[in-house]
Amino acid sequence: MQRQQQIEELKTLMDLVARNTTALADSVMAIDVSEYYDPEQFEREKIELFRNYPQFVGPSCMIPAPGDYFAFDDTGIPILVVRHSDGALRAFVNICSHRGAPLNECASGKAKKGRLFSCPYHGWTYDLDGALVGVPFGREGFDSIDRATLGLKPLQVEERDGMIFVMPNPDRRFDVDEILGGIGERLSGFGFQDHYYLGAKQVVTNFNWKLNMDTFHEYYHFEFLHPETIAKMAYSNLGTYHQYGRNHSMGSAVLEINELKTIPEAEWQPRKYSSYVNFIFPNTVIFVVEDHFQTWRVYPISPDRSVVYHSMFLPHEPANEAERGEYEQYFQMINDVAVAEDYTLVDKIHRGLNAGIERKVLVGRNEPGVQNMHRQLHALLGQPAAAGRGAGSGLT
Ligand code: FES
Ligand SMILES: [Fe+2]
Repeated sequence: MQRQQQIEELKTLMDLVARNTTALADSVMAIDVSEYYDPEQFEREKIELFRNYPQFVGPSCMIPAPGDYFAFDDTGIPILVVRHSDGALRAFVNICSHRGAPLNECASGKAKKGRLFSCPYHGWTYDLDGALVGVPFGREGFDSIDRATLGLKPLQVEERDGMIFVMPNPDRRFDVDEILGGIGERLSGFGFQDHYYLGAKQVVTNFNWKLNMDTFHEYYHFEFLHPETIAKMAYSNLGTYHQYGRNHSMGSAVLEINELKTIPEAEWQPRKYSSYVNFIFPNTVIFVVEDHFQTWRVYPISPDRSVVYHSMFLPHEPANEAERGEYEQYFQMINDVAVAEDYTLVDKIHRGLNAGIERKVLVGRNEPGVQNMHRQLHALLGQPAAAGRGAGSGLT
């Protein structure tokens, strides 16, 4: 989002403050509670949303230099993404052609000498194109193999607007423009290529992955669930909403936004007065706030377990240990709020949803982001639209 768009967004937020309202969906939505625990639904989601749908991997700045790699194993297919010496990315199924070990020992790092992956099990070696280039004791132990056919299996990877996407299923292709749905234009001003990757925290949660995602898409709960933390910084139940294909972007106002009334527009600092939740379907939130951004990537484990990776990206590498420490502390604080406040509550929601009481989960007009995630999911899975008028929904 370029400066002029950010200025317009600030004006819209100030107008919402003045009118004490928020962006609204057309109608209330009702979701069948079984969607959160039905094992068949879960299996379909795993296949259609996490195996056959392109995944947001991270911003470009996570693996900026040749040989930098990132690996994850949360979609059902282990994935390795690496930056080649030609500057472009390569992605592979992270399974060694010998007996199947993953090639790297860390989630992210640098390839050996910047150009090789060596399997930790028996040392088979691959170059950054995935070709098998070394087999210890190969002449005798593996005299009959055809090395040319034993490279790593390639996956489609695309890098656009400072974001990396990969298709987990090696037999599928995707069109990155269709996946972005235009949100790149909205995000382009935030410089996702140029930040510094501080690190990631993993949190395993005992609830369905969609319950996890639901927490990110509305500002309605700030006042009630976060009275001492977020609600002291940002307006509750107030935000903009913009749709981009299956994705969306939501602006939020800090409590001091009306200070702008006394500042000439040319001097406005948009990031000081607004923050943005950007949703990349189906499982990622890019949270742009103040001088930095964070990503939250959520993956299903089972119908009642999920894992979230919370990553932090700073405007520049910390200048010294003291500055790094400050950022680390802030990172931990944000993570703690999510775990202590959101996840503790969602844990209880999960138990209620699994209680065997047939009912609908209601999503208000003031929760358009939550509605969008479920609407897109229904469309992709070919489920009937979750209209708001099902039996027992409480809607009239
Ligand atoms: S499994 Fe990789 S070298 Fe044996
Ligand atoms: Fe929250």
